[in-house]
Amino acid sequence: MASQPALQRLKGHFAESGNTPEAWSALWEQDFKPWERSTSSPALIDALKSHATLQGGLRTNGTRKKALVPGCGTGHDVIVLADAGYDAVGLDGADLAIEAGVKLAEEHKQELGKNGGSAKFVKADFFASEWEKDADALSGFDLIYDYTVSQLTRSSWFMLILVVPVCFESIYASCLG
Ligand SMILES: C[S@@+](CC[C@H](N)C(=O)[O-])C[C@H]1O[C@@H](n2cnc3c(N)ncnc32)[C@H](O)[C@@H]1O
Repeated sequence: MASQPALQRLKGHFAESGNTPEAWSALWEQDFKPWERSTSSPALIDALKSHATLQGGLRTNGTRKKALVPGCGTGHDVIVLADAGYDAVGLDGADLAIEAGVKLAEEHKQELGKNGGSAKFVKADFFASEWEKDADALSGFDLIYDYTVSQLTRSSWFMLILVVPVCFESIYASCLG
């Protein structure tokens, strides 16, 4: 968990710059990422293990299930979903996050191939719409894993929330005001 001084610094940063992709990018550029655990979310792994319906793989029509991770950061959760058989898309507004995700996918290339899933990283603001085409979003996602960007929902999307992640970190929400 992030220290109190780190949380204070985050709070000050967002109070000054607003909660925008640019403000997040500035944190990446300062290499100030107190949220970074360099591993995947235990809640996601638990959910995938304990709910067979959340597994990826092929749909009944033979096409592959798709997953989205908004605000994916370094991309560990995207890799977990790709490994579970999804065509997984990680979305982040920071160039450095996308670079980290692409690098991580490269490192996991061999194991990903085994389940047929894939990992793709797209740089964009989740609340804009330009990225929807790049991420093939308009046909929908079978699973969206988010405990970062949007407790905030997108008004133009209909999201059916089936799983409420068990480890929502309200500390970051409190930094965002
Ligand atoms: C607190 S970090 C969490 C990263 C990752 N989910 C993790 O657990 O390590 C939030 C991430 O969301 C990204 N982000 C914040 N707002 C965003 C937005 N509107 N669109 C896309 N990405 C955003 C930031 O750049 C940052 O990488």
